[in-house]
Amino acid sequence: MRVGILTGGGDAPGLNSVIETCVRHLQKSHIDVLGILDGFEGLFQGNILPLNSGNILGIHSLAGTYLGASNQSSLSGREAEFLQKYRSLNLDGLLVCGGDGTFAALKGLAQEIPIIGLPKTIDNDIAGSEVSFGYDTACEVIVQSAEALRATADAHRRIFFIETMGRTSGWLALRSGLATYADIILLPERPFNREALKAFVLAKKVEGRRSLMCVVAEGAFAQGESETVAFEVAQSPKSERLGGISAELARWLEKETGWSSRNMVLGHLQRARSPSVTDQILTRELGLEAAQLAIGGVWNRAVLVKDGRVTHDELSVFMQGTRTVPEAHPWIQRCRDLDIFI
Ligand code: F6P
Repeated sequence: MRVGILTGGGDAPGLNSVIETCVRHLQKSHIDVLGILDGFEGLFQGNILPLNSGNILGIHSLAGTYLGASNQSSLSGREAEFLQKYRSLNLDGLLVCGGDGTFAALKGLAQEIPIIGLPKTIDNDIAGSEVSFGYDTACEVIVQSAEALRATADAHRRIFFIETMGRTSGWLALRSGLATYADIILLPERPFNREALKAFVLAKKVEGRRSLMCVVAEGAFAQGESETVAFEVAQSPKSERLGGISAELARWLEKETGWSSRNMVLGHLQRARSPSVTDQILTRELGLEAAQLAIGGVWNRAVLVKDGRVTHDELSVFMQGTRTVPEAHPWIQRCRDLDIFI
């Protein structure tokens, strides 16, 4: 037997960890593993690397990805070529680590290529899985950054806006904002009211607060407005790159309230860290489950977290679009109970 491993979309902490887990386990069953380099592009270009204990032992704790990644290559209109390249490798199937964009792109090929999907994205927005690997580590980066910035915010009596990634979903901002006890959390799912935000900030000023911490998702926007698009990547399946809301809010609030405000866009630092213990354990479990399915010849499955446990379901559950934060999520109620502006 021979299987390929492919990473779709951007990198995420835990990729090396899941690769090592899969390869180690498949090798035990004498299955050859081919790594496809640089995402979909590696298959088109024939950039393939055999993976074995000689090259993957110990990579689990490294940031980045041993296989490379690309979120700038689309399959659209190239499906036939992709299939032909896949077939030329004589593989029994593909283990695909991806987010919603990757699996949406593979939709048309799922009947032709045996696939086992693994949920990879710091955004935590893949449909079907309660959690994706990379998310916990990215939250750690945000929380540590917010704790550090609170010191300078306090020193200067400032409002600090920390802008997180996450595109149109607010999971990163919500969980890390709650963890760092932010005063304000702004999510794409809940357009905020500018006047209410201003009133909240002014009330805190009257209370005598030295500083305020606001965790804002890059996709957040005010009622009646829309997301701030930083730039476009034409070839990317999701071409818009969001960003800039924290700078705009800092300037606007400073003008409206007279309270000195600064912002920080955490950007790719959120993806650049070695996986946390939680992501190590998650990738160990996801990788093992995926390898066991492949060994058993069970394909077209999505390995995912449901009711807090690693399990598997139809691959199509990963193709149902973006998983956003539901209004009824308990963390939103917790924020309200804790007087966090959300
Ligand atoms: O989907 C993952 C993600 O990190 C988003 O949170 C972010 O908006 C985007 O990718 C950034 O993409 P790029 O790496 O192309 O700048």
